[in-house]
Amino acid sequence: MQKMETKENFTSLKNDIIYDLRGVYKSREAEGVAFQLTIPTLQITKGEKIALIGQSGCGKSTLLDLLAFISQPTKSDTFIFQHKIKDNVHQKNIDQLWKKQRHNSLSKIRRQHIGYVMQTGGLLPYLTVKENISLSREILGLPKDDTINTLVKELGLNYHLKKPPKSLSTGERQRVAIARALAHRPEIIIADEPTASLDPYASRTVMDIFIRLVEEMGITIIIASHAWDDIKDLGLRRLSHHSLRSPEELKTETIVTG
Ligand SMILES: Nc1ncnc2c1ncn2[C@@H]1O[C@H](COP(=O)(O)OP(=O)(O)OP(=O)(O)O)[C@@H](O)[C@H]1O
Ligand SMILES: [Mg+2]
Repeated sequence: MQKMETKENFTSLKNDIIYDLRGVYKSREAEGVAFQLTIPTLQITKGEKIALIGQSGCGKSTLLDLLAFISQPTKSDTFIFQHKIKDNVHQKNIDQLWKKQRHNSLSKIRRQHIGYVMQTGGLLPYLTVKENISLSREILGLPKDDTINTLVKELGLNYHLKKPPKSLSTGERQRVAIARALAHRPEIIIADEPTASLDPYASRTVMDIFIRLVEEMGITIIIASHAWDDIKDLGLRRLSHHSLRSPEELKTETIVTG
């Protein structure tokens, strides 16, 4: 049975805050080489456009996976996600959901509220382009509307709808991944280097369309990129971070705040 939210475990936050993280850490280790992402405080507000810029290996995907509830923090003091249904603010204590291993609840929140454009595209190979784009709406049982047609048109995918993803170019596949993430009109889009394998001109064009669609749909976006030059004119708030490396380079720590 679902537990009612009590006043005692409701944290007082401004209504328009989506993420509130304090003292969140993710540690990773492989073959004696350690990495730690440290987030002393991070707040993201509804409608913000956030850019996470940094070189390969600095922890961008690690942070995005935490924000999409895909990977569990190694330690967290506070990790709250807020969303609105009509005028009521609902608060999810992500920290507690992870500690209680409520994987179903976490994936339900992700499915309903987040669209994820993965670094590797992540399209399902056995579905056509159209089926890939439509999947999230179908899973959520959303009614048919103009969203998919508009996205297909805006992203120039008309001629590719019946094809399997493997017969598309990289750029086309990335545009399909963007359409798929936007199709169910989530409150949040998390995009991990969505145009990384495109040339600078194509990357700029796709990114312009992407950000315009996000603005028109009133979606909050968190986007990782290694190329600030490609996106610096799009009015994004850049999260600050810095990395510390131990002398033997066996441990790297990236600290993100914002
Ligand atoms: N499964 C894993 N096990 C151990 N270490 C990992 C694992 N995945 C990533 N790492 C390490 O964590 C660090 C951060 O990786 P992450 O993928 O977050 O970087 P990134 O900024 O997204 O890099 P890129 O720009 O190349 O995508 C790296 O040093 C990486 O080697
Ligand atoms: Mg990455």
